[in-house]
Amino acid sequence: MNREEKLNNIVLIGMSGVGKTAIGKYVAEKLNMEFIDTDQLVVNNTGQSIAKIFELYGEAYFRALEQNIIESLTDKEDVVISTGGGVVLNRKNIQFLKKKGVVFLLQASIDTIVSNIESSPSNKEDRPLLKDASNLRDRIKRIYETRKELYISSADVVIRVDNKSKELVGDEIISIFRQQPPCSCF
Ligand code: S3P
Repeated sequence: MNREEKLNNIVLIGMSGVGKTAIGKYVAEKLNMEFIDTDQLVVNNTGQSIAKIFELYGEAYFRALEQNIIESLTDKEDVVISTGGGVVLNRKNIQFLKKKGVVFLLQASIDTIVSNIESSPSNKEDRPLLKDASNLRDRIKRIYETRKELYISSADVVIRVDNKSKELVGDEIISIFRQQPPCSCF
């Protein structure tokens, strides 16, 4: 991590299916911080599911809602923010989130992502960019390829999540957030 200022929020970014929500909730609970899921805030504010928003108004409209939600977090302190997988597509989101907190990229292999998403059928239905994919692996791979550089350049810290429990990943995040890396292995 190469940031001068001390930040008191944690931001999780990464592809769909890497475990941002589960890991974010775990970290928030352990650190006694508030947990915020930007997708959930979009749903709460509109009263519509993400899938419905995409279907009725399209992706660009969703991205505008997403940006509004992110910018509405200005005054939040001591929070863990879990973001939607496409948050990195908008440079303004990242500029904002980097000022707000330490940005952790959760990185998983395509195998891990596919298996996480397939383990819960509703996971795929809820995700409009994956829902109609005849080949889930190919779709995920394609999306990841177009975003890879953005994820890396947006992150302060990259955490591998393959074959790790949410507790293990969460504890790594906590340790780094507290500036006490357990080892040089992350
Ligand atoms: C998206 C990921 C979703 C959600 C929307 C778009 C994306 O969030 O924001 O369906 O562009 O990758 P998750 O990462 O929680 O699945």
